Amino acid sequence: MDINQIIKERRSTFPKEFNGEVIDDSVIEQLLENAQWAPSHHSTYAWTFRVFSGESKDRLFDFWHSVAFPTKYEKLEFNQAKTSHVLIITVHDKGKNPLEEEIASTACAVQNIYLGLSQFPNVGGYWGTGNGIYEPHFHEFIKADEDEYCMGYFLLGKVDNKRTESQRPSYKKNVIWMDE
Ligand SMILES: Cc1cc2nc3c(=O)[nH]c(=O)nc-3n(C[C@H](O)[C@H](O)[C@H](O)COP(=O)(O)O)c2cc1C
Repeated sequence: MDINQIIKERRSTFPKEFNGEVIDDSVIEQLLENAQWAPSHHSTYAWTFRVFSGESKDRLFDFWHSVAFPTKYEKLEFNQAKTSHVLIITVHDKGKNPLEEEIASTACAVQNIYLGLSQFPNVGGYWGTGNGIYEPHFHEFIKADEDEYCMGYFLLGKVDNKRTESQRPSYKKNVIWMDE
């Protein structure tokens, strides 16, 4: 597929679109290998992806359940049943670059995961930042280091048909040509 089309057709696919089947670990490995090719100033590669699947996925959702408001229980249970793998995305402040740069680089790694999904027509996912991922209790649950910050989760699941269509305002709204 043409790169322009891959970029435009990259979508966030949500648990309500997952069919509940389990993704082969080899697919997850490929997505993580793609993440590793993100640009990184001073080659710090300052991200960590913690992979939760099977029993560890259930422990993660059980934790989220234990700290959630009761109004969220139903959605969490639904998401737990539909999701195959969860990647917890963290960034490390290694002191070699401003933290902004490490966050930017980690976001590039996540975009590589998103784009790599184009190679798997029946696998989708999205980057989420809910479920109290910035709270100290979550930091403790994932056994994060002192220099580590959570940037969210990537929920992954199998899909029968992946949505590809979306809308964007013109890029011209976000661009200033300084020679005009
Ligand atoms: C840093 C970041 C955090 C996000 N957090 C959430 C979230 O908590 N919940 C959610 O439904 N989507 C979340 N998204 C996904 C966006 O909602 C999604 O990218 C947007 O709807 C556009 O859809 P698309 O990715 O298919 O183009 C997040 C995206 C980014 C980049």
